[in-house]
Amino acid sequence: CDNISSIIDRRLFTEEDIKLMCKRLGKELTKEYAGKDLLVIGALKGAVFFLTDLVREMDVPLQMDFMDVSSYGDSMESSGKVRLDVDVQTDVKGRDVLIVEDIVDTGHTMKYMKDLLASRGANSVKCCALLNKTERRVDDVDVEYYGSIVENEFVVGYGLDLAGRYRNLPFVGVLKPEIIAKYTK
Ligand code: PRP
Ligand code: MN
Ligand code: MG
Repeated sequence: CDNISSIIDRRLFTEEDIKLMCKRLGKELTKEYAGKDLLVIGALKGAVFFLTDLVREMDVPLQMDFMDVSSYGDSMESSGKVRLDVDVQTDVKGRDVLIVEDIVDTGHTMKYMKDLLASRGANSVKCCALLNKTERRVDDVDVEYYGSIVENEFVVGYGLDLAGRYRNLPFVGVLKPEIIAKYTK
């Protein structure tokens, strides 16, 4: 079937849930970054939807840049190696940086980005993820802001993909077992 909603078993976070998370985080971040020189860095590609919704809930001047990093490729398991495909174009020295992610899972990707930006002399490096899969954490990394904790299930939608697909679902859900089976054989 070509209808993408038909690959979903259960919805975990509806459009309304996500909107409320963005509003709450936007308020918190507005307080945190008042009077600072904020640079928001989105981790491509998963963070695009969350980033654009989140920054529109933030009532502070900010700049945006992007970094294309990946470690999953077409697999459902982290390769453990983070690949930097496209770097930011902004000099982060002295800047207050907020990294935005769709999800922190093992923590490999976030730790890689935080360490890299800190090594370039950023004044502060914090992060905000829509979802925090704490149970799977391997690398010790602080997730200062997040929308919700998520159980150890493979989720797609609102930026989250399986082999590059299903990012454009407007909600976050769990795949049907037969879809997962196709990718784990
Ligand atoms: C996913 C997700 C996070 C990262 C989280 O990206 O968007 O960036 O993995 O996993 P980790 O905590 O185990 O590192 P992915 O590598 O799939 O690239 P993508 O964003 O382009 O889909
Ligand atoms: Mn990603
Ligand atoms: Mg991915």
